Amino acid sequence: MRDFLERLPKVELHLHIEGSLEPELMFALAERNGVALSYASVEEVRAAYDFSDLQSFLDLYYQGMSVLRTAEDFFELAMDYFRRAHAEGVVHVELHFDPQAHRVRGVELSVVMEGLSLARRRAERELGLSTALIMAFLRDRPAEEAMTLLEEAAPYWEMLDAVGLDSAERGNPPEKFVEVFERAARLGIARVAHAGEEGPPDYIRGALDRLGVCRIDHGVRCLEDPALVARLRDERMVLTVCPLSNVRLRVVERLADHPLPRLLAEGLNVTLNSDDPAYFGGGMLDNFLACHQAFGWDRATFRTLAGNAIEAAFMGEARRAELRERLEACD
Ligand code: ADE
Ligand code: ZN
Repeated sequence: MRDFLERLPKVELHLHIEGSLEPELMFALAERNGVALSYASVEEVRAAYDFSDLQSFLDLYYQGMSVLRTAEDFFELAMDYFRRAHAEGVVHVELHFDPQAHRVRGVELSVVMEGLSLARRRAERELGLSTALIMAFLRDRPAEEAMTLLEEAAPYWEMLDAVGLDSAERGNPPEKFVEVFERAARLGIARVAHAGEEGPPDYIRGALDRLGVCRIDHGVRCLEDPALVARLRDERMVLTVCPLSNVRLRVVERLADHPLPRLLAEGLNVTLNSDDPAYFGGGMLDNFLACHQAFGWDRATFRTLAGNAIEAAFMGEARRAELRERLEACD
């Protein structure tokens, strides 16, 4: 099965590029940029990754990214991840990035965009890896700040495949961002949002009804609301589920308790993703392997999941057709 899951052409729809920062690169960049870390070693960093919930993770996540200062840093961050993803059979990556978390440290959007754009071009050329870019708004910061970011991103609107909504979910409902998402819609930019990770099913409804999203990041708590499940099924709404993330952030206690089998049994449009691979114990292949171990899924199930992601991805139709063919040929 490992061999099959490695060969399976995997499309990743939910990845925070800042969450792909491995401790080794964190230390190298800290040294290069003269940033003080509160850890003595790579081992100490890894040992600190014992989270009780989303907020306890976010505290370390925002601290960890403080080493990212120059365009070269963002280039290395992304290339480091693209190489690892490519090596485990990932063929397309859609990366969220968090400009506000860099801006508050004095790192401008143009710096982030320069580094990420260079890495995306390099990955395409050298690894044959296609990518898409999702600019995320931090939902625990004011909506006005998100609107300012969207306007400041004008030189890059053409490069954005979507805008997203992430960070601390509880107490920050989608409704807070209606105006920002309406503005993105008028600009013709697609919308996605984290919802139903820690927040209630109503946040999923809010994201659908008020933000006009074309997919829900996580969404696992939809199962608490049967009418919502029926709607998600009828609309073929994509859920970007992140199994290892949900275990590490204690959305579920053990992977064996994860709602994934129920989501599939309900006929929902599920995809598997890694979220923040450097923090949650592995990338796409590890997530696929863990699901095989926990649920005993067969090849057909994994092929369905990989196919769902190919159909849902922000990519041109020629690339989609190519990936469908690769999936077809993988047995
Ligand atoms: N930012 C990075 N990872 C996240 C997650 N799992 N949920 C919300 N915001 C995030
Ligand atoms: Zn996420």
